[in-house]
Amino acid sequence: MVVAIDGPAGAGKSSVAARCAVALGFVYLNSGAIYRAVTWKALQQGLQDSDADEIAAVAQSLDIEYTGGRLLIDRRQRDQELHSAAVDQYVARHSAIAAVREMVNRRLHQIAEQSNVVVEGRDITTVVFPDADVKIYLDASVDTRAQRRWQQQEGDLSLQQIAERISSRDEADRKKTAGSLKQADDAIYLDTSHLTIDEVCDRVIATIQNTSKYRELQS
Ligand code: DC
Repeated sequence: MVVAIDGPAGAGKSSVAARCAVALGFVYLNSGAIYRAVTWKALQQGLQDSDADEIAAVAQSLDIEYTGGRLLIDRRQRDQELHSAAVDQYVARHSAIAAVREMVNRRLHQIAEQSNVVVEGRDITTVVFPDADVKIYLDASVDTRAQRRWQQQEGDLSLQQIAERISSRDEADRKKTAGSLKQADDAIYLDTSHLTIDEVCDRVIATIQNTSKYRELQS
């Protein structure tokens, strides 16, 4: 079974997808983390401003695996490195490369063939799994998303600076020629601005449990 979740940065996708996956015994897949892994590896090799072919070659040879809902790169968890300022700076550019997107989408499909998954990203409900069993579009106002990031951050950016960065990332995500952020016609829209994570998870889990596919899995 495939549960696909899309939405802008800071809408709560990662927290919601991870918690729902644990609650249901599904594998949690964070597609953004795989794009970040490509950029991290490229930066390790000094390839930040390289052309598309060089970044695509990094993506092709990337050693990644998913174990227990954790992404391992070169056999190690690197969650902190994936969220460095340098990775933030280059990942949008690298994730726009068609060959990189093909590699990420292929990996997601390989995992989904073997397990029930909750996958989150920007183009999961539209491009990667257009036939997903459940499709959710999580949203929240720019102010709410900035507030959440501001509370989570370890740096010293002001709320205003974070809001500006979120707005410009939204713009970049929507304008991408491949894999742009769009709401699928058949996705359930959920505005999380005034909901807690628990409330969002309860709604998503109830939606999944109400599908005939989920009931089939349980029988
Ligand atoms: O969700 P995130 O911020 O970790 O995503 C990292 C980058 O990858 C961001 O620039 C958006 C991009 N991305 C994408 O193009 N397609 C996806 N399915 C997921 C993320």
